[in-house]
Amino acid sequence: MDKQKINAMIAAKTWSAQPWKQGLEKMPSFGTVDVWPKAQDLETIDALFVWKPLDRGVIERMPQLKWISSLGAGVDHLMNDPQIPRHIPITRIVDPWLARDMSNYVIMGILMHQRSMDEHKINQQKMDWNRLPYHPLKIGVLGLGALGGHLAQQLVDLGFEVLGYSRTRKHIEGVKSFDENEMDAFLSEPDVLVNLLPITSQTTDVLDLNFFAKVRTGTYLINVARGNHVVEEDLVNALDQGQLCGALLDVFREEPLPKEHPFWNHPKIKITPHVASVTSPESAINLLENNAKRLIKGQSLLHQVDIELGY
Ligand code: NAP
Ligand code: GLV
Repeated sequence: MDKQKINAMIAAKTWSAQPWKQGLEKMPSFGTVDVWPKAQDLETIDALFVWKPLDRGVIERMPQLKWISSLGAGVDHLMNDPQIPRHIPITRIVDPWLARDMSNYVIMGILMHQRSMDEHKINQQKMDWNRLPYHPLKIGVLGLGALGGHLAQQLVDLGFEVLGYSRTRKHIEGVKSFDENEMDAFLSEPDVLVNLLPITSQTTDVLDLNFFAKVRTGTYLINVARGNHVVEEDLVNALDQGQLCGALLDVFREEPLPKEHPFWNHPKIKITPHVASVTSPESAINLLENNAKRLIKGQSLLHQVDIELGY
């Protein structure tokens, strides 16, 4: 690139753009940093950092655009948008803090389930000294990428038996790995299933009737990936029929979850409002700076999305 500094625009929608703007402005490789929709001069923008779908017609006003990054790990908001050009690199956030926070959230969910914390709370209210037993659990992780791979390793370190399912087989010490053709064998073993797949045309609606029919009776589900992985009616049926014993859900087909949605009051469902792991500008800005340096030097960018695979 013939420039020494990159002009960037942040289009963050549901997040405050200010910490990103302030952080990027301090970085040596960034020049002007604008925030959509206030930016005037779109013709000089080199890089666009996006969270949530872009307004229409934004990209066509940026003839110099050389790089788009999601501000999250997921890229579904970019992959589903026809205005996003396919000929410039699209990157995403792969960050140790994001992986740490995701692992911590899922481990919290697993331990709460394993140690019957809901029942202990009910017993406390009744002043009932009931020493509930707990058992070792087998944990199955769907998606062994940046987040699922980190989680699987953490779970092994905590002494859980861990199985993983991914498109291609992985070699993670202590993790029994299954590839995309081995879903049935994978599903037959775990007591807890954690979904950390990306949402693509292959994985949309994957958690359906057919999927729930193959899991062990009484499996506990944690969905921290995307709401569109789940056929909601099939999930409710699986819970009501006891195929699943409970579910911890952080992501939903519609967010915020509508007030009238049956999940809110379902006795076997726990809900959090898409907070399992939120990108921290403090950490992720270093990643953007690193890629900005690479762009200036004409090197390929890190953490690029494979357009064909959609993640
Ligand atoms: P990633 O690094 O791209 O990993 C994706 C994993 O899924 C890979 O192991 C991949 O297999 C596997 N996979 C993809 N398509 C598959 C298929 N058709 N069948 C089987 N396995 C498949 O993604 P990540 O960074 O770990 O993030 C995962 C997702 O977490 C994100 O896409 C996002 O939706 C979600 N997320 C949620 C939150 C939250 O707060 N709730 C926060 C961050 C991220 P290969 O390794 O073989 O390619
Ligand atoms: C959050 O959902 C992310 O994709 O980072």
